[in-house]
Amino acid sequence: MTNEQYYELIRPYEDVSRIMLTKLEILNHSIYNSKDTGKPIHHIQNRIKKKKSIEGKLDRLSLSDSVINAKERLMDIAGIRVICYFPEEIYDLVKCLKQQSDLIVIKEKDYIQKPKKSGYRSFHIVFGVPIHCLDAMEYYPVEIQFRTMAMDFWASMEHRICYKKEYDEKDSVSREMQQYALALDLMESRFQNQLARVIDG
Ligand code: GTP
Ligand code: MG
Repeated sequence: MTNEQYYELIRPYEDVSRIMLTKLEILNHSIYNSKDTGKPIHHIQNRIKKKKSIEGKLDRLSLSDSVINAKERLMDIAGIRVICYFPEEIYDLVKCLKQQSDLIVIKEKDYIQKPKKSGYRSFHIVFGVPIHCLDAMEYYPVEIQFRTMAMDFWASMEHRICYKKEYDEKDSVSREMQQYALALDLMESRFQNQLARVIDG
């Protein structure tokens, strides 16, 4: 893939990324106005996959690094990470987005209900977002990873230390990471209980 091809490839992904960011901002203040718990989103990160990462991933899939393969096989060229306070807010946001009739759901993985063996928790969903050009319409995928602050803290640390790495004491480090994931999950529920008590009382 040449640099020119890469820049042309990512343009619509930048467009759909902006559309989704705006939708999330709108939901953030409209959910805030309808509840007494505060805004659901703590912060948002977004990125467009770098040329090197696109080529690396296609290589891992044993595919040539053509524009067609990238478009057809990669669902995370446009990626957004939404960091909330509590899991409940994640499900509220996902529900609201699913109700938007212009969007389609391409893929969904709930690693909150069913965490990965590593201890990873997060809600992954790929939305198809329509782009209208002259006389045609095409859906482009945007991958959104919804996490609470506790899930994001764990995932960011674990990513640094373990993810896709090989070293000697990997098993014992992994076990320790799983313990931390459980501890953070517990701490998060306790914060949630405290909040419920403050709001009720
Ligand atoms: P990829 O080819 O890696 O994108 O796999 P996939 O399409 O099966 O997606 P998956 O649902 O496994 O999510 C992949 C993304 O989730 C990664 O790029 C990470 O950002 C994140 N992720 C998944 N598992 C872990 C984990 O065990 N630890 C951390 N830190 N992040 C993870
Ligand atoms: Mg991915």
